[in-house]
Amino acid sequence: MRDRISELLEEVSKLSAENAEQLEALRIKYLSKKGEISSLFNDFKNVAADQKREIGGLLNELKTKATERIAEMKAEFEAKQAQADAPDVTRTPDPIEVGTRHPLSLVKNEIVDIFSRIGFSIAEGPEVEDDWHVFSALNFPPEHPARDMQDTFFITRDPDVLLRTHTSSVQSRVMTSQKPPIRVLCPGRVYRNEAISYRAHCFFHQVEGLYIDKNISFADLKQALLYFAKEMFGEQTQIRLRPSYFPFTEPSAEMDISCNICGGVGCAFCKNTGWVEILGCGMVDPAVLEACGIDSKVYSGYAFGLGVERITNLKYRVKDLRMFSENDVRFLEQFKSAY
Ligand code: PHE
Repeated sequence: MRDRISELLEEVSKLSAENAEQLEALRIKYLSKKGEISSLFNDFKNVAADQKREIGGLLNELKTKATERIAEMKAEFEAKQAQADAPDVTRTPDPIEVGTRHPLSLVKNEIVDIFSRIGFSIAEGPEVEDDWHVFSALNFPPEHPARDMQDTFFITRDPDVLLRTHTSSVQSRVMTSQKPPIRVLCPGRVYRNEAISYRAHCFFHQVEGLYIDKNISFADLKQALLYFAKEMFGEQTQIRLRPSYFPFTEPSAEMDISCNICGGVGCAFCKNTGWVEILGCGMVDPAVLEACGIDSKVYSGYAFGLGVERITNLKYRVKDLRMFSENDVRFLEQFKSAY
């Protein structure tokens, strides 16, 4: 018996297991009720009385050693497992998708930035408007086609509740609530009842500008617009003003810039003319100033309005307007800019 005990003591000191199952097998082999050590305890009754003390001591030692060794290995496995379960702080994190700004926002921000450098501040107003701010204050005669159901979305049966068709409505609000000098930019979404195609949509975005003070002339308007065109499209850009008509400006003009795609020599985008139209403008009609409570004998002003989609097309060559509102991330994630 003594030999068997020392054999087992030797064995136990060298126990090793590769995984939890092997360890459990060892525990069963040595420590379970039918295990090696238990059977030695069972045989203990046969040990001669004078040796019981010594053999008993050895047996207890064996049992303690085996129990300790197995507990030690168990602790090692548990520590290893805990390590495997813990987050690996050295791992590269999953790439986090950060969004990009919408191209229309980028361009709007750039336009706002350019005009803010010459003193314009931002004014905003509601998209659901009344007839007065969108049309009447701006000198639209009652029978003007823009008021027609064809163009304007009405919100209720009452024709006085409608979606603004231009952000000039914000200009009416500013003129009635502030005293000149007024120098504001009105960016925002506008709505028109148009069939949706690659070149038209039922909503789009504008930035309109308004400057009212004493002695404002058409030359001031032209200078501001030339500055804008060069800042937006580059120093080589030229502008051209063509006479036009808007109910709220007199005289009125439309502004073209030299086509920045072909450099003015003619291409499909500018229909071989070398010029592309980008905005409408003019001197604020005295009737509009008066309607909004501004003395037209003392003050004059200019206004302009441009389409953000149009400028974005020119800048980024987006061929289909509908892409701006489809929220396809493959399209949107291409736009990275300082704005
Ligand atoms: N409000 C006009 C439009 O929506 C643009 C414009 C603004 C024209 C200011 C002249 C002056 O088409």
